[in-house]
Amino acid sequence: MLPVAIIGASGYTGTEAIEILMRHPNAEITYLTALPEECGNVAEVFPRFKGRCALDIEPLDMNKLTKKAKVVLCCLPHKVSMGFVPKLLAASLKVIDFSADYRIKDIAVYEKYYQPHTDAENLKHAVYGLCELFRDNIKNAELIANPGCFPTSLILGIAPLLKNKLIKGTIIINSVTGASGAGKNPSKSFHFPNMNENFFPYGIGKHRHQPEMEQIASEVAGSDFEVLFQPHVGPFDYGIMSTIYCEPKEKITAEKIAELYKSFYKDEHFVQVLNTAPILKDIAKTNYCHIYPALCKDKIVIFSAIDNLIKGASGQAIQNMNIMYGFDETAGLL
Ligand SMILES: NC(=O)c1ccc[n+]([C@@H]2O[C@H](COP(=O)([O-])OP(=O)(O)OC[C@H]3O[C@@H](n4cnc5c(N)ncnc54)[C@H](OP(=O)(O)O)[C@@H]3O)[C@@H](O)[C@H]2O)c1
Repeated sequence: MLPVAIIGASGYTGTEAIEILMRHPNAEITYLTALPEECGNVAEVFPRFKGRCALDIEPLDMNKLTKKAKVVLCCLPHKVSMGFVPKLLAASLKVIDFSADYRIKDIAVYEKYYQPHTDAENLKHAVYGLCELFRDNIKNAELIANPGCFPTSLILGIAPLLKNKLIKGTIIINSVTGASGAGKNPSKSFHFPNMNENFFPYGIGKHRHQPEMEQIASEVAGSDFEVLFQPHVGPFDYGIMSTIYCEPKEKITAEKIAELYKSFYKDEHFVQVLNTAPILKDIAKTNYCHIYPALCKDKIVIFSAIDNLIKGASGQAIQNMNIMYGFDETAGLL
């Protein structure tokens, strides 16, 4: 069994990773860490694990970690992550990092949207872990930059068009996420009385996932693409629904688009092309992405749905781990 550690096990993505690893046939959790105030028996900290998991969550001790694990799921906020990852790699551990710290290759762009980058050396070698598109690079990676949740919904939704060079102009993406997208500590606007029965846009014109989307869309297309991204938050817990608008280079029929998508994803277990619009309840708690490409007037409009905490975070991380270690890619995943 592959011994796996989770750093930041007390957060939303950390607990989803525990849930997935508990049913993994080839991997076992050997070390869980969090800040001291969140430590203790996992079933006491999270009663959902009562009777199912006897592990403890402990404050991080590097000596213990290197003895107990071969791969680390680093479920920490950006900036905090960059403080840990160099030490983990130096101790010959493989790392799957959930934060944005190793996703954006251009440091100036990262620093414009986040803060000063302190680990340029490891950034160079990080592999962007969008499993369906970068599988060959993922196989031999030491450090995976697990993709952002909104970028996962966009890139999977648009990759068949980008790869086949069928679109031009700015890609416009409107997304709605559930409140878990912001992590476990609610801000004023994500606090229940404001979130409940409510719906609003945020991060207008400046969301941090926009440069990540542009970098990966351009890489997949082999030429520069501009992305205009507008997120919204809705009064539900999990899930992202993205509606993506783009301009075909030449006239195309709805049948041709459907054929292209079905053929592009025919061997992909976790990407399902639908004949009708996706709904969030169908993908909640799963690692699936549901996509419906449509033609509306002369524009291509793609609907792409994922669970932000699973395909958008912990599920994709474990799919990456499965690829890195040659396990069945679906192992542990629903
Ligand atoms: N939520 C999503 O939908 C989603 C999707 C994709 C990617 N991500 C990314 O995944 C990462 C984790 O997100 P999340 O939603 O799980 O966040 P979260 O619920 O806020 O959890 C963050 C975890 O990091 C720990 N932590 C915070 N500061 C720390 C520090 N200075 N030292 C050690 N541990 C620290 C927290 O410990 P405490 O419990 O003690 O606070 C908690 O365990 C982030 O980088 C996020 O951007 C999130």
